[in-house]
Amino acid sequence: MFKNIVVGYDDSKSSEKALERAVGIAKSCGAKLHIVGVIRPIDFGYIGYITPEEIEEYEKEEITKEERFLKKAMEKVTKEGLEATYKVLEGDPAEELMSYADENNCDLIVVGRRGSGGLKRLLMGSTSSTIVKYANQDVLVVV
Ligand SMILES: Nc1ncnc2c1ncn2[C@@H]1O[C@H](COP(=O)(O)OP(=O)(O)OP(=O)(O)O)[C@@H](O)[C@H]1O
Ligand SMILES: [Mg+2]
Repeated sequence: MFKNIVVGYDDSKSSEKALERAVGIAKSCGAKLHIVGVIRPIDFGYIGYITPEEIEEYEKEEITKEERFLKKAMEKVTKEGLEATYKVLEGDPAEELMSYADENNCDLIVVGRRGSGGLKRLLMGSTSSTIVKYANQDVLVVV
């Protein structure tokens, strides 16, 4: 069955559920779990108003924050005896998750139905709906 499962993790309740489900599937297939968090690059509107050093500082801070909660997720997962890895990427979440899946031989992408942004009334967020449409792998949207 699945050998490499990538889960999109944005620290939302929904992605927490996605992670739990991914853990269950990874266990039952003996798959490796890839926990991926994507941060957005700084808004271009700021460029020109702040120095390159400040941009670098901002990105470092974002990466550190992201790594902190990905590591926490990793701890939980490895406690379950699973083989896992984590990665912080920068860019558009859907694009980055799909490229990661392509480049790392992943055969399943797991995401939550909604994430940390978005409107509650929307049924599905833009990250999960883009992935459902365009991914080259099987996709599981956890509700
Ligand atoms: N930055 C991210 N890094 C990793 N995974 C993400 C990220 N953003 C979203 N995801 C994954 O996609 C799922 C759905 O989130 P999505 O972004 O589509 O919804 P939303 O935030 O509610 O809406 P939108 O972003 O369209 O305003 C999340 O549960 C998570 O699994
Ligand atoms: Mg989102």
